[in-house]
Amino acid sequence: MIPDRAPVEKDVYHAAPEVVNGAHVPNFQKYKELYLQSIQNPEEFWGRIAKEYYWKTPQTGKFLDYNFDLSKGKIYTKWMEGATTNICYNLLDRNVHQKKLGDKIAFYWEGNDPEDCMQVTYKELLKQVCKFANVLRSQGVKKGDRVSVYMPMMIESVVVMLACTRIGAIHSVVFAGFSAESLCERILDSHCSLLVTADGFYRGDKPINLKQIADEALRKCRDRNFHVGRCIVVKHLGVTEATGATDETCTVKASSDTSQSPPAKRSCYNLQITWNADVDIWWHDLMKGASDKCEPEWCDFEDPLFILYTSGSTGKPKGVQHAVGGYLLYTATTFKYVFDYKPDDVYWCTADIGWITGHSYIVYGPLANGATSVMFEGIPTYPNVSRLWEIIDKYKVTTFYTAPTAIRLLMKYGEEPVKKFSRKSLKILGTVGEPINPEAWLWYYNVVGNSKCPIMDTFWQTETGGHMMTPLPAAIPLKPGSATFPFFGVTPAILNESGEELEGVAEGYLVFKTPWPSIMRTIYGNHQRFETTYFKRFPGYFVTGDGCKRDKDGYYWITGRIDDMLNVSGHLLSTAEVESALIEHAAVAEAATVSHPHPIKGECLYCFVTLRDGHEFTETLVTELKDQVREKIGPIATPDYVQNAPGLPKTRSGKIMRRILRKIARNEKDLGDTSTLADGTVIEELFKNRCRTA
Ligand code: WT7
Repeated sequence: MIPDRAPVEKDVYHAAPEVVNGAHVPNFQKYKELYLQSIQNPEEFWGRIAKEYYWKTPQTGKFLDYNFDLSKGKIYTKWMEGATTNICYNLLDRNVHQKKLGDKIAFYWEGNDPEDCMQVTYKELLKQVCKFANVLRSQGVKKGDRVSVYMPMMIESVVVMLACTRIGAIHSVVFAGFSAESLCERILDSHCSLLVTADGFYRGDKPINLKQIADEALRKCRDRNFHVGRCIVVKHLGVTEATGATDETCTVKASSDTSQSPPAKRSCYNLQITWNADVDIWWHDLMKGASDKCEPEWCDFEDPLFILYTSGSTGKPKGVQHAVGGYLLYTATTFKYVFDYKPDDVYWCTADIGWITGHSYIVYGPLANGATSVMFEGIPTYPNVSRLWEIIDKYKVTTFYTAPTAIRLLMKYGEEPVKKFSRKSLKILGTVGEPINPEAWLWYYNVVGNSKCPIMDTFWQTETGGHMMTPLPAAIPLKPGSATFPFFGVTPAILNESGEELEGVAEGYLVFKTPWPSIMRTIYGNHQRFETTYFKRFPGYFVTGDGCKRDKDGYYWITGRIDDMLNVSGHLLSTAEVESALIEHAAVAEAATVSHPHPIKGECLYCFVTLRDGHEFTETLVTELKDQVREKIGPIATPDYVQNAPGLPKTRSGKIMRRILRKIARNEKDLGDTSTLADGTVIEELFKNRCRTA
């Protein structure tokens, strides 16, 4: 339950008057009042919000219908029966035509290199999206078809996503840091008929040949008898096909007309791409002739909007599927209230569009509100560690949303690189991805925010589509490290092992009791896995997989994953996924992976491997194993430690006891309850072989 009053202690951070003035929700009482309305009468609450958007046909049937209880049958959530709309129409046409925001800037694009930048207005974005939507249609893409998007942080990525939604196609964005194997796996799982990618990009001073990785992924698909018919390639670095080194100095990409072949932006490096004329086709060749008018496909509220893969505890990634109407309502509403959005704000979320944060809070939420955003291609440390703060001053960013891992990284360099820039435009800060430790929180608050900007610690998941537990800038006093209270329409509960709801001060499993508009609807192609993963353990509840505490003031504190998941730099990986990559190596008989604390990444991977007979544990093998995981999953999954484990601690039924391995990795001698351990003699050996950890 929400308390009647907010706490007043001095370790609680209250909003300054400038934050409170004109805020959408000015105080705690107002928050509580709106929250209760949203829970007691969801139809009235969400119905009022829905009126701000365009519906081709109105709701005719039930407002909300759902089942969260497996014993009563299939799990489902359905809202606003009969209502039809198009999300792209709401994000672009509605803003351009009804709201007269055509000339407003939708995105300031800031490239990896500081001199490389451009901007695009709502009107221009609409034209580009219509053109590419027509291109997709001309390539035979129809409503319901899946399109794979493997692209860096560029405006064209947004164009592709929205063009898909305009024609009712389902985008599946794969983070451009994933490997060929990961991309292949995701294309196969979702049966994508078309892939959109780019020639390459830079991450800091490191060139990435994206097309080459995409080629390899498509080859892997063909090896498994799946043929992607088309690969559309955006010329981003400006290399020409099938040539060797091009070292002419190129000009800066300055035009927002993304249909023209863009001039390359720098003296090009030795990037070679191969061209398969049967499949590959340049973006600019297709865009040249395309019309910039495109009638949207009107979709049902519950039609699938996109698929985004997230790691699952049993290895194979899960294609989290979201629905059109609910995702629109929820991302738009959370963006408006959590960031207390005002029309003159300049908002910047540093996430990559390959993750849910990029989907919800770079693309859909901000555009639904007609906001101006910064989209950043680069990294926080290039060309120097002041880059983020420099960008904040350059665009007068008011609202800045990033991850704890980025804050911890920049903290290392001290205050000086931050203080070189004024950051005086900043009003509101946000974090997402993992629990933020109070030390990082205080640095973010005091140094980055000059002790005047409230920090929105937003807890949510790929599965939830939008913020679930979060403060609101003016209304909810902050406690460093707490995600505070539920957003409107969200009904959290904390359960004990037996599934009983705990009241008051408590710690246990975080679950949600009722649906919110942007709850995932299914796992693509596997509804049963959806039901088992989220609804089986505690019947009647959506289970987050996170642990949670509630304190005496009713504040919620997320304590981290409670399943076999790892959170590295704010991104989930499953132990099973990493272990199966290790086991594929000829020398490895068995593998177990646990998380280990890391000063910047939050958690890192510590792996135990049992070798096959005849193999020796050497430095070379360790390097090979690290490379193998990197290759199979991607750089974020690269293990920090690999230890030799002649035996692994197991239960009598053969289950690896990762709880014990976690302690061994940390050199904690108190192993807790070891009564279920089948063979205790392995333990001593494991302690002896420990890796020296940081
Ligand atoms: C998991 C979801 C949501 C976008 C980024 C990650 C952890 C996320 C917080 C937070 C504590 C957090 C949880 C969650 N998490 N935000 N503010 N405080 N933990 O999306 O990859 O689906 O990961 O990230 O463990 O379950 P994701």
